[in-house]
Amino acid sequence: MLSENTIDPDKVMAKPAPNVPFFIPRQPLTPGISRLHKQDENQKENDKLETPLLFQPLTILPNFTIPNRIGVSPMCLYSADPKDGKVTPFHLTHYNGFAIRGVGLTILESVSVTKNGRTTPNDLGLFKDHDIKDEHDRDSKYMEQIEGLKQICDFYHSQQGSESKERQLIGIQLSHGGIKSSQLPLYFGYGDHPIDESRGGWLNDVHGISLTSRNRKMFPYAKTMTTAEVWQVIDEFDRAIQDSICKCGFDFIEIHAAHGYLINQFMSPATNDGSRKDEFGNGTFESRIKILLEILKKIQNFKKLSNLEFPVFVRISASDNDESSEDGETWKLKDSLKLAPILVDYGVDVINVSSGGNVAPTKPRIPQWEMAKQIKAAIVAHSQNNTEKLSHHSTSTPTTTPTSINSRPGRGLVAAVGRIHEGETANKYLEEQVCDICLSGTGFLKNPNQVEKWADELKSDVQMNMQVGWVFHKVW
Ligand SMILES: Cc1cc2nc3c(=O)[nH]c(=O)nc-3n(C[C@H](O)[C@H](O)[C@H](O)COP(=O)(O)O)c2cc1C
Repeated sequence: MLSENTIDPDKVMAKPAPNVPFFIPRQPLTPGISRLHKQDENQKENDKLETPLLFQPLTILPNFTIPNRIGVSPMCLYSADPKDGKVTPFHLTHYNGFAIRGVGLTILESVSVTKNGRTTPNDLGLFKDHDIKDEHDRDSKYMEQIEGLKQICDFYHSQQGSESKERQLIGIQLSHGGIKSSQLPLYFGYGDHPIDESRGGWLNDVHGISLTSRNRKMFPYAKTMTTAEVWQVIDEFDRAIQDSICKCGFDFIEIHAAHGYLINQFMSPATNDGSRKDEFGNGTFESRIKILLEILKKIQNFKKLSNLEFPVFVRISASDNDESSEDGETWKLKDSLKLAPILVDYGVDVINVSSGGNVAPTKPRIPQWEMAKQIKAAIVAHSQNNTEKLSHHSTSTPTTTPTSINSRPGRGLVAAVGRIHEGETANKYLEEQVCDICLSGTGFLKNPNQVEKWADELKSDVQMNMQVGWVFHKVW
């Protein structure tokens, strides 16, 4: 006989998680959510435990509320089969484990939008393989990539609690490696190790930014993308963005504009020194950021035509980590402070602040948290400015908004990353307005249960996935 406190199993078994193509019992509450809100108001009053900011939900957009402010930073696993770029059981095991352990959001590793834009043969891909001549075969290979990615999205969606509006979001980081493509996976050797055709690489087909003298030494085989080829890459991003949302089921998109990948190479004067002389690199700040803004315009256009809404993240290298160079020689924090409000006006909801990867760093470096804090302050100032402008001239729009597409401005949130290893540090960053979301990379590799670890450190009571958490009285 069931005791009074026991849930009737029929109720649970009869209601599996909806909208996913496999059986899994439906969670009562979304994993990772603070359990304090289960208490009534009087109990809350009496409770000495205030929910730390880290474990308070965050609404990125209406209908996109995460249960806590912790995210898995994108990390390439270099584990796809070189012949197809598809998700394997290794990816499923790795990513799905974070979902059942209550993470607020996960940014899937860098996924290339073209075959030759993969940084290694083992990168995941969301590209049409034009080496496959038969169109039907090419499309079915592409569908297999989509199916693999969809499995991860389905699993994340299976975790939403029936009583929660909060959900764990799963996003995809879309990328193109530019001249950094065709390298050895990092687990074989840190740094740039180009691999040629005999070892599965494609050095004859590496295209990117025009080669400055610095890059010519490191990537002598790389070819300069023509203006038409840059526009083609923008179209490949557009296709991959649309299919990530509509076919794979991702909740959000992150554009990889950091770490010396193609977009970052265009943005930084260290790698885009004006020698291109076209609209994507004539020596001005505006020409260098154009590739990124054109991709953001495609997103706004897609949203407008499809009537879909989803958060847009952009990961930037806030500095080339060579702040001591002459002005205009490298990308510096002050360039990011100029860029950040423009990104918000182009509909970016979250700026993910990383750094480096484009040129050799010099010391002293500005810590990543400090850059995140300054970027957040710049966005806040910009939003206040816009609000004042709007209240004085109700018909005006922010000056940098792309007039052709009339987009909504982004939410302008900031995600910080970089050696955030303790719950206390993460919570402090949120309280001190360094950022709105704390991302962790290596911390999650070391301990996939980092959310629970940080909850313990902050003496918080956090909902666990039902199949695991009942043992610890962390479900009902
Ligand atoms: C194995 C590994 C792979 C990574 N791959 C990516 C990637 O695909 N895209 C990206 O933007 N950053 C990548 N990064 C950087 C991480 O997202 C993160 O910014 C970095 O590890 C610093 O955070 P942490 O100190 O919490 O580890 C990678 C880092 C690691 C350790």
